[in-house]
Amino acid sequence: MLNVVLFGPPGAGKGTQAVNLIEKYKLVHLSTGDILRGELAAKSPLGLEAKKFMDKGELVPDEVVIGMIEGKIDQQAGAKGFIFDGFPRTKAQAGALDKMLSKKNTAISIMVALEVEKQELVNRLMGRGKVSGRADDQDINVIENRIAVYNRETAPVIDYYSAQGKFKPVNGMGTIDEIFGRLCGEIDKV
Ligand code: AP5
Ligand code: MG
Repeated sequence: MLNVVLFGPPGAGKGTQAVNLIEKYKLVHLSTGDILRGELAAKSPLGLEAKKFMDKGELVPDEVVIGMIEGKIDQQAGAKGFIFDGFPRTKAQAGALDKMLSKKNTAISIMVALEVEKQELVNRLMGRGKVSGRADDQDINVIENRIAVYNRETAPVIDYYSAQGKFKPVNGMGTIDEIFGRLCGEIDKV
């Protein structure tokens, strides 16, 4: 299997690039943000609980996200591999993901981490806020908090994959096609 962690701060382009990557490599896209927004739209208990954290730009508790992603992996028995987008976001999530995959006799192949300047992240998210309807894109304070939470709680996940020799930084500035080419360049080396 080819299992890719697509990593990067809010607005780095994870979702945008995942669409093209799943097409090229025939992978299943698992975005915890998209799954949580789906739960919210369905007004499920999980979605309503998660909303309290998402609207402030805080992380949803690990146990909620880990249980949710495990269910989604189990539903995809025949998959050739996965793109994990927005997950793992803590070292605890990364450890849990390794355990889940090893039960299926597989593992993470690579972590590609998009690197984007902070002002560009803010510009992209504010731009999307005009059309997305996402509550967490509407308010500059929430956007700033998402980036701060990333730096404090999520960036340490890089050390986790670095220790396994799987961390590959990728320049996330430029056009969508240029960045896609850089990502494929790293993934093709796996
Ligand atoms: P999530 O949905 O994962 O949001 P995020 O990480 O904050 O980032 P985005 O999805 O906004 O950005 P992206 O990197 O996907 O960029 P995109 O391609 O959309 O998480 C939302 C919330 O859910 C979290 O805050 C948390 O509360 C909760 N959550 C989710 N996962 C969790 C977890 N594992 N644990 C705990 N809580 C969790 O691009 C952004 C914009 O830029 C778009 O408008 C796009 O068109 C544009 N764009 C993309 N590429 C380019 C480019 N090259 N040039 C110009 N514009 C571009
Ligand atoms: Mg996204």
